[in-house]
Amino acid sequence: MSAGRDLVLSIGRLYCDIVFRGLDAMPRLGEERFAESVAIVPGGGGFITAAHLAALGLRAGLLARIGTDPLSGTLAPALADSGVDLRWLERTPEAGPQPTVVMVQDGERAFLSRRAGSARPATLDAALADPAARHLHIAEFATLAEIPDLIETAKGAGLTVSLDPSWDDDWIRRPDLIERAAGADIFLPNAAEARAIAGCDDLDEAGSRLAGHFPVVVVKDGGNGARLFQRGNAFPLPAPEGGPVLDTTGAGDAFNAGFLAAWLAGRPSQQALAEGIACGTLSVRSVGGAGTRLDHTDVDTMSRNLLRSHDRIDA
Ligand SMILES: Nc1ncnc2c1ncn2[C@@H]1O[C@H](COP(=O)(O)OP(=O)(O)OP(=O)(O)O)[C@@H](O)[C@H]1O
Ligand SMILES: [Mg+2]
Repeated sequence: MSAGRDLVLSIGRLYCDIVFRGLDAMPRLGEERFAESVAIVPGGGGFITAAHLAALGLRAGLLARIGTDPLSGTLAPALADSGVDLRWLERTPEAGPQPTVVMVQDGERAFLSRRAGSARPATLDAALADPAARHLHIAEFATLAEIPDLIETAKGAGLTVSLDPSWDDDWIRRPDLIERAAGADIFLPNAAEARAIAGCDDLDEAGSRLAGHFPVVVVKDGGNGARLFQRGNAFPLPAPEGGPVLDTTGAGDAFNAGFLAAWLAGRPSQQALAEGIACGTLSVRSVGGAGTRLDHTDVDTMSRNLLRSHDRIDA
């Protein structure tokens, strides 16, 4: 990383996740259900990726807005604890409350969210112009759609850019999605998103098509690991076998942090892929999205083993 430019900015809506666990069944219209537990935590890919980057030792800033209502206020201790630089977090009444009710039943989840106000923080231009800013991570296409000049502005300021589309019914199959994402250096969809955006079911074909538009494409594929597409080559890497899957919330955001940390440190893309999978895997092995504190020693060990077993299989 060039001297003095060590700040990674992560942009995306900050939600107040109200997570209900221990449900026998999902609620139905006209019925009431009771959960065994509830937790209130900061959510949204922008924050979760930033928190994991901070845990991995990077300087990560959150570019988002938060309300001044009591529900938004409950997030303050967890935000302060996360190690994320909150200098560019805009506080304004119209940005809240922005809750996501998460209902977890047998590992499956249902969500109910409300977006409040615009996704564009008033601090955006100042953040991108910060002399320390090195990279911008966009955690969801919906935020890019609200700020169409985001990639161009970031690139103009000399930053590299990554984009996780994150499923969005309004956008995912629109033919102009790729065009609006032009300029992103790294594209990080999951398998369902890659198929829908590329318009084809075969995952390798979908990844190759997307790689015609972005220099680096990484397709995340849950328990199957992930695939890298770059310079006409495809490199699939399976996730480690075995191990508990306790909570998949935020696995993709943890993956993004692992991949970006390695890529920004100048390590080869295949190594970055392995570190992304290691972070995703460590994240599903404990409960809570950003609540999992990634440790770079664990990430190093797991990613090294992944690449070693891949080489053995290939040999
Ligand atoms: N069921 C699982 N078993 C093992 N590993 C998993 C599982 N789900 C996710 N992972 C790990 O997390 C990484 C990213 O997960 P995934 O492909 O689910 O991303 P995503 O769909 O973007 O997730 P998110 O729900 O956070 O948006 C995977 O590459 C893998 O390492
Ligand atoms: Mg995702």
